[in-house]
Amino acid sequence: MTAQLIDGKAIARQVRESVAAAVAKRAADGKQAPGLATVLVGDRVDSATYVASKQKACQELGMVSFHNQLPGDATQEHVEDLVRRLNADPQVNGILVQLPLPAHLNEERVLQLINIEKDVDGFSPINIGRLAQKGREPLFVPCTPFGCIYLLEQAGVKIEGANAVVLGRSNIVGMPAALLLISRNATVTVCHSRTRDLPAVIRQADILIAAIGKAEMVRGDWIKPGAAVIDVGINSRPDATKKSGYRLVGDVNFEEAKEVAGFITPVPGGVGPMTIAMLMKNTLRAAEIQDS
Ligand code: GUN
Repeated sequence: MTAQLIDGKAIARQVRESVAAAVAKRAADGKQAPGLATVLVGDRVDSATYVASKQKACQELGMVSFHNQLPGDATQEHVEDLVRRLNADPQVNGILVQLPLPAHLNEERVLQLINIEKDVDGFSPINIGRLAQKGREPLFVPCTPFGCIYLLEQAGVKIEGANAVVLGRSNIVGMPAALLLISRNATVTVCHSRTRDLPAVIRQADILIAAIGKAEMVRGDWIKPGAAVIDVGINSRPDATKKSGYRLVGDVNFEEAKEVAGFITPVPGGVGPMTIAMLMKNTLRAAEIQDS
């Protein structure tokens, strides 16, 4: 192995510890514990698991979580009414509507209703619009891309002037990751399912953020020697040697890529733990913004 491993678990732990210390300081100063409202519509098992982890993290860090479960056939009006109530609730500093919403709901209308001071996911059109524009500052940056950039910075990878390739253009990861890299003066290429000669494009990358959701798609010989590889993918592969019958793999073939890259995140234990750590950081920030 030539690559240096970027230990997301350890870096996420440090972020969480610093958030917990700030929350304890707030309590000592007589300030309200930061409150995060989670909204889950329907019963997708993966979404329920993510939301439960977010609630657990709040408890561990001294924050308060308010869970709101709506049935899978909830109407647009019902979801919007809930968001309006949470906007008005002074105990709620951050609002997280778990995505994806069921197909009959208009996600854009729900997200644009969230008060931007409570938009700890950074998905409201105002926060994303500010991220996309020069000289404008979003109040919050989406948690997973924020975690990717934080990992690069902690590893000492120079972003300014680097050729960065983002594989995937989702609203949740790929597109905001590209915008964040641009804001840090990288030269950014965004690749997707219709990109021609993907391996050749990825071979130009000093920094690769892979967020395409395809198990081990990126091969070792696609990686530029010495590149920093941030793997956002969480895919399961059948594995008879595991008790569960499967193992988690990223979008990058780790065994191959680690022999070529300069830095690499493992799956699991890379980007995964950062998403919740950055959500906690954003929720603390929301409470601080709303203090004043
Ligand atoms: N679904 C997958 N990732 C996320 C996320 O970061 N936030 C929300 N709200 N939903 C998601």
